[in-house]
Amino acid sequence: MENRDAGLVEKISVLKKKRNAVILVHNYQLGEVQDIADFTGDSLELSQNAAKTGADVIVFCGVHFMAETASILCPDKVVLLPDLNAGCPMANMITAERLRAMKKEHPHAVVVCYINSSAEVKAESNICCTSANAVKVIESLDAQEILFVPDQYLGHYISSRTGKKMILWPGFCPTHVRIQPERISELKREYPQAKVVVHPECLPEVIALADAVLSTSGMCRYARRDEVREMVVGTEIGLMYRLRKENPGKRFIPVSEQAVCPNMKLITLEKVLRSLEEMSPEVKVSREIRLRAIAAVDKMLKVSREL
Ligand code: 13P
Ligand code: SF4
Repeated sequence: MENRDAGLVEKISVLKKKRNAVILVHNYQLGEVQDIADFTGDSLELSQNAAKTGADVIVFCGVHFMAETASILCPDKVVLLPDLNAGCPMANMITAERLRAMKKEHPHAVVVCYINSSAEVKAESNICCTSANAVKVIESLDAQEILFVPDQYLGHYISSRTGKKMILWPGFCPTHVRIQPERISELKREYPQAKVVVHPECLPEVIALADAVLSTSGMCRYARRDEVREMVVGTEIGLMYRLRKENPGKRFIPVSEQAVCPNMKLITLEKVLRSLEEMSPEVKVSREIRLRAIAAVDKMLKVSREL
């Protein structure tokens, strides 16, 4: 670690104690940020951790919808997002207004939203899901008609796994669509022993080539299996840091070095320190939206507990 980083890490650690703060970090964050985490995980684990933390302050190193979810779950805590520009372009592909219009066209449909959505969209939804529990959430529904927003590719994947027809919003993750099937086929030829593991936000043609389709933390668990010595990884490049750190001696091959989520990289040690010093920027969901959004998030957490 560079001296500059060591100094920042020390200051963050002192201030974290003083504020009674917890640092929650998504698996795609910069390595230096993952290294200061109290907990690193996928969207589901981070929301479960936020829900049960005894801290007064949550420093959320991830993107905006994740901090909002923490605020929905913990209205009495201060939730800090060290850079407010860290959004999720896919979450921004649908608004509450457009979802309301869609609901009018399908008045009897159950609305399922991917956690990668704004609090306002969650407030319009019946239940939420993450990449880790999406199949279980859809299987738990007794519904004739399901609207799924905003990720068409996750929706397509769940529909193929569950056999349930769903009406899909045409959103997508600009980072995961950079992962191309042709490259996976090349890597399979180059590394015939390797397991191919991809995120369900990938294109259906990519998913068709995979040995496993998993959330980011699901990929970390899969990598620990004894039989996995080499793994072709179809997700955002930030996951490579944790995979390599936790599994020295194993080989991890990213499908695309271009699969970068620039928003995830906006959080730096400097910004984490500043957020703790200034207790800002804060993400706070209004009471009115929160009371409507919490039902969808709680229902999802309940299904996950039953997993
Ligand atoms: P996970 O919940 O699998 O970590 O995914 C979050 C995300 O934003 C994927 O692009
Ligand atoms: Fe959103 Fe894609 Fe970035 Fe995940 S990787 S936060 S889905 S833009």
